[in-house]
Amino acid sequence: MLHSSFSNGTKNNILFILVDDLRHLSDETISLPNIKTLAGESVNFKNAFAQQALCAPSRNSMLTGRRPDSLRLYDFYNYWRHSVGNFTTLPQFFKENGYETYSVGKVFHPGISSNFTDDYPYSWSQYPFHPPTEKYKDAAVCYDNETKKLQKNLVCPVNVQHQPGGTLPDLESLEHAINFLSNRNSSQPFLLAVGFYKPHIPIKFPEHYLENIPINKVKPQKHPYMSAEIPLVAWHPWTDVRRRDDIARLNISFPLGVMPYDWSKKIRQSYYAAASYVDDLVGELMSYVDRRKTIVVFTSDHGWSLGENGLWAKYSNFDAALKVPLIFSAPGISSKNIHTPVELVDIFPTLVDLSGLSHDIPKCGNKDKFILCFEGKSLKPLMIDHSKAFGKYVAISQYPRPSVYPQKNSDKPRLKNIKIMGYSIRTKRYRLLRSHVDKTYTH
Ligand SMILES: *[C@@H]1O[C@H](CO)[C@@H](O)[C@H](O)[C@H]1NC(C)=O
Ligand SMILES: *[C@@H]1O[C@H](CO)[C@@H](O)[C@H](O)[C@H]1NC(C)=O
Ligand SMILES: *[C@@H]1O[C@H](CO)[C@@H](O)[C@H](O)[C@H]1NC(C)=O
Ligand SMILES: *[C@@H]1O[C@H](CO)[C@@H](O)[C@H](O)[C@H]1NC(C)=O
Ligand SMILES: *[C@@H]1O[C@H](CO)[C@@H](O)[C@H](O)[C@H]1NC(C)=O
Ligand SMILES: *[C@@H]1O[C@H](CO)[C@@H](O)[C@H](O)[C@H]1NC(C)=O
Repeated sequence: MLHSSFSNGTKNNILFILVDDLRHLSDETISLPNIKTLAGESVNFKNAFAQQALCAPSRNSMLTGRRPDSLRLYDFYNYWRHSVGNFTTLPQFFKENGYETYSVGKVFHPGISSNFTDDYPYSWSQYPFHPPTEKYKDAAVCYDNETKKLQKNLVCPVNVQHQPGGTLPDLESLEHAINFLSNRNSSQPFLLAVGFYKPHIPIKFPEHYLENIPINKVKPQKHPYMSAEIPLVAWHPWTDVRRRDDIARLNISFPLGVMPYDWSKKIRQSYYAAASYVDDLVGELMSYVDRRKTIVVFTSDHGWSLGENGLWAKYSNFDAALKVPLIFSAPGISSKNIHTPVELVDIFPTLVDLSGLSHDIPKCGNKDKFILCFEGKSLKPLMIDHSKAFGKYVAISQYPRPSVYPQKNSDKPRLKNIKIMGYSIRTKRYRLLRSHVDKTYTH
């Protein structure tokens, strides 16, 4: 049911919650009560897919409203304003339309792909906030039960008080975001983007979250081995996982060895525990939000394989790596579940449409370089009248490989080494997977 709140000129605030590597968790795996509550009060897209299962390409795609093929970003190493076009970003659009825009935590991927500034000053009204303890993200701070030493482990439940700074990055981001929401006295509308770092590896979280999911309750993954019918190019060796101290000492053979059963369960347990830690942060943040005048988007940059097909981490076109939560809550839009396939590239046009700001932004044409155009589409019509959806909606994802046989750089090939592009195209009823061998990726 649509009320008149879009047409009377009041601008809603926008809260954009972006979680790092949080896959779509089906209800039976673990209970995430705060996210579940938000989903129940919102439009909950149950078939939402990332454009590419890698942080920088997914985030730049989502935040510019363009596909990785248009940004030519499949790795971490180019900034669109320098390499392809001076494209307007989602936060920049709102900033240029009278909003105060602010980034807390990991929203843009840091580094070259956002010019080392999270695209400040174009996207943000103030310099983005990064939690000070993020500098320990990869430090040897995980107590290891076997070696009795502090290590760089994958599985890393911690006593927060014993951590450097006595806190964790996401706790600092949460506090900062809450300060922004509660101490603001401006009548200017805002767009606040909050990017939580977990459950991204190392899977570091306050240890008491393990109590939510005792190891004997952790189910092993379905299909723990790659089936012989799946082409080898679909496999990736999850080198970032193998490299962590606790996993490295298992001597898993490269590139096709599989994770031992007990470690599969330990990793799954920690991932779920870290997800429930993030769920608590989301619940706390939401308690400071005035839902009557705030549009809330909750999503993740991509998923994470938890041992399905013998795979771990992102880096593929499997559902475990591509499927994400996507929740929109907007004043005047009633809650519902939507099963139509949608994509993260749809978020930008949807927010513009929901905010009532502009109706004449063009669809990007073939090869044109409009500074502002959309490759995705607004999901607002679908949110209002689901019967409109049938047939029109597809989700397209992609992942590059340097070779058919898995090698050291198969997880994250650099642009110049890409030889094959795998695409996934999905409608409500069908899914097509194809690999393309095409030299043009490296141009
Ligand atoms: C705009 O519409 C909403 C919903 O109908 C209402 O709650 C709000 O007070 C209106 N604002 C103004 C400024 O008229
Ligand atoms: C790119 O866009 C920004 C924001 O609109 C503008 O300030 C800047 O001058 C543009 N840069 C170029 C090279 O066109
Ligand atoms: C990116 O950063 C460099 C170095 O600070 C700067 O010279 C350049 O102008 C920036 N690019 C844009 C588009 O602002
Ligand atoms: C480490 O060992 C202690 C005592 O046996 C146990 O309670 C704890 O759960 C273990 N931690 C991990 C991460 O296995
Ligand atoms: C509101 O914000 C303005 C400008 O930042 C500041 O000068 C003023 O003291 C603030 N008022 C309150 C009540 O916090
Ligand atoms: C792994 O390899 C090292 C060095 O060869 C060996 O000392 C260790 O026992 C092996 N660990 C396992 C779990 O096989």
